[in-house]
Amino acid sequence: MDYTQTNPIPMPPGGAFSSVRGTLETVFDWQYELRKKNLLSLYEKGKTLAWNASDVDWSIDVDIERLAHSRVQNGLGKIMNDVLQPPVKLGDEELMKMQLHTNAFMLSQFLHGEQGALLATAKIVQNVPWEEAKFYAANQVSDEARHVEVYHRYLTEKLGLSYEVHPSLGRLLDDIILDPRWDVTFLGMQILVEGLALAAFGVLRMQMADEPLIQDIVGRVMADESRHVGFGVIALENIYRHGMSAAELREREDFIISATELLRERLLVTPVFERLGWDADVWTRWSIDTPFMRGFRQMTFSKIVPNLKRLGLLTPRVRDAYEKLDLLKYEHMKDSVEEPEAPPPHELVELLMQFIQSSATEGAAAAS
Ligand SMILES: [Fe+2]
Ligand SMILES: [Fe+2]
Repeated sequence: MDYTQTNPIPMPPGGAFSSVRGTLETVFDWQYELRKKNLLSLYEKGKTLAWNASDVDWSIDVDIERLAHSRVQNGLGKIMNDVLQPPVKLGDEELMKMQLHTNAFMLSQFLHGEQGALLATAKIVQNVPWEEAKFYAANQVSDEARHVEVYHRYLTEKLGLSYEVHPSLGRLLDDIILDPRWDVTFLGMQILVEGLALAAFGVLRMQMADEPLIQDIVGRVMADESRHVGFGVIALENIYRHGMSAAELREREDFIISATELLRERLLVTPVFERLGWDADVWTRWSIDTPFMRGFRQMTFSKIVPNLKRLGLLTPRVRDAYEKLDLLKYEHMKDSVEEPEAPPPHELVELLMQFIQSSATEGAAAAS
């Protein structure tokens, strides 16, 4: 695919390339038993539903500044200042900048996460012991290459604004790639990173309802991601409930708790405040404390929690950590086998409906 990178992605402090040296056991499966039928049917689905990045209508013009401006005119400013109560009241210009940069930051982290998924899944092809999981992972590798392709093109050709990888996301991706245990790669990538991405993509689609190109891209990527998360759940089913020692299980609990911390940090948009020249400490503190942002960070775990529960990983230690983060409210939601897609959490829909209603009331008051 040929496209113009009008604005290349900025480099992280370490430069254009970084490498991690882990030990990887590559496993051949000479029996080709293909026992897990549900995994094979997911593999068939993956092949049938593959799409091409060139199928996307790249001729759609994306005037993101115009969209941001019209949202401000339609009441977003009042919502931001009255409901979210930022440390400093934001004028129209700052509201525009905040939207443009937050959006570019989120999409950039999606791009970097997709590269992580590409590499982690290539690793799974090598070290997962069963042939049918190797098949599926191979199919996922090509999905992830496409995801990197579409997000990169959108950011560099259409948006013209982007961010380097968030240090916490970079660290988590390193941890996942470095870990020699195949189940931890699945746990880190398919259950945690992709589970969070699935929920965050849904939020982005709602926020960008007025931009048809990103709607199409994210819709395509989400359909793939829901299969990937399902792949993780099916592959890990029964692994933790049977045949793992208490010490091994404790290591997985430690991994989940530390990865959860990194995922939550990755959602903080501190780099945006720094680039805008705003007081990053004050603004980060606000985004940690303000109920809407706190709610947003919690919602991104709405698929992760039921999936961990299904796998038997909502153990007392993990429950304790999740209780403190107020994440256990999602434990009764449907997991990725019961419900492969990730509908936006109802709290978010409710909140956005309130916003829409309040701006409609504003508009009616202004017109009368
Ligand atoms: Fe992906
Ligand atoms: Fe994926």
